[in-house]
Amino acid sequence: MKNIMSFLLVVLFVSFLNAQTETVKKAHSFVGAATCGMCHKSEKAGKQLDIWSKSKHAQAYKTLQTKEADAVAKEKGFETPAAKTEACLKCHAVGYNLDAALLGAKFKVEDGVQCESCHGAGSDYKDMKVMKNRDDAVSKGLVMPGDIEKFCITCHNSESPSFKGFNYTEMWSKINHSIPEIK
Ligand code: HEC
Ligand code: HEC
Ligand code: HEC
Ligand code: HEC
Repeated sequence: MKNIMSFLLVVLFVSFLNAQTETVKKAHSFVGAATCGMCHKSEKAGKQLDIWSKSKHAQAYKTLQTKEADAVAKEKGFETPAAKTEACLKCHAVGYNLDAALLGAKFKVEDGVQCESCHGAGSDYKDMKVMKNRDDAVSKGLVMPGDIEKFCITCHNSESPSFKGFNYTEMWSKINHSIPEIK
């Protein structure tokens, strides 16, 4: 009897702990580039939406849907099409492995490498009041890569089947989307 009681207490305690970590870890959800773009498209803001949508990052998922990509995946020994292969998706998309509950209505996996691939899931920092205060935004999930080159290399490396080196200065100039100095 005593053993059963302590067993039950342990079970109770473990489920309590699980419930606790659940609240602490409640993940931020992805809202999608269209949502970020609402405030990041004007000349004054720095046209981030426009710069990104014309970049290859916006095409990264669609690239996986090509016959060429499927051939690369097959060559690498994968039996699934490239757009269904985790080992390809991890650099070409974001949010593909998440529950729909963690994705906003405007989120599209087809947007490939999008704002939130680099800046973190935005559901909790996307509001104007939070966005205007960097510390607050960062505490709610905004990621500012800091060492930019090191960050790019998390995807631009020899694990990519087509890798031919990464020239940081040249590559950053192709996607640089800084806020203009003069407003
Ligand atoms: C409601 C409008 C709004 C939305 C939606 C929004 N932002 Fe912002 N964001 C702003 C404003 C305003 C600033 C501050 C700009 C400034 O300092 O000139 C900002 C700043 C930023 C910065 C720079 C932060 C810094 O401290 O330098 C990043 C990065 C950013 N936003 C990314 C995003 C991403 C990614 C999304 C989508 C998940 C998003 N924003 C959605 C309004 C918005
Ligand atoms: C999440 C992974 C990921 C990160 C992080 C990433 N990239 Fe990319 N990048 C890609 C993928 C995938 C492609 C290929 C897209 C395609 O062609 O379909 C690409 C393509 C590019 C291209 C187009 C290639 C060309 O020759 O024109 C540029 C430029 C680029 N990335 C710059 C950068 C820079 C600069 C950084 C760091 C700030 C960066 N990327 C970070 C995944 C990433
Ligand atoms: C480590 C990150 C990473 C992984 C994993 C990855 N890719 Fe890529 N992929 C990239 C980047 C970055 C580029 C842009 C060109 C470059 O620098 O390699 C790219 C470009 C491509 C291109 C365009 C090639 C070209 O010459 O323009 C195809 C097709 C492609 N990837 C298919 C795949 C397939 C299929 C897989 C899975 C077997 C895969 N990738 C896995 C990062 C990755
Ligand atoms: C490939 C990764 C990548 C993508 C995709 C990306 N960003 Fe960025 N973003 C960066 C990096 C790196 C910086 C520079 C961070 C720093 O200076 O520390 C930056 C800076 C910014 C800034 C601040 C610029 C400044 O002058 O302070 C804003 C605003 C921003 N991004 C918004 C966006 C929005 C909105 C999108 C989507 C439309 C987006 N970013 C897509 C990597 C990315």
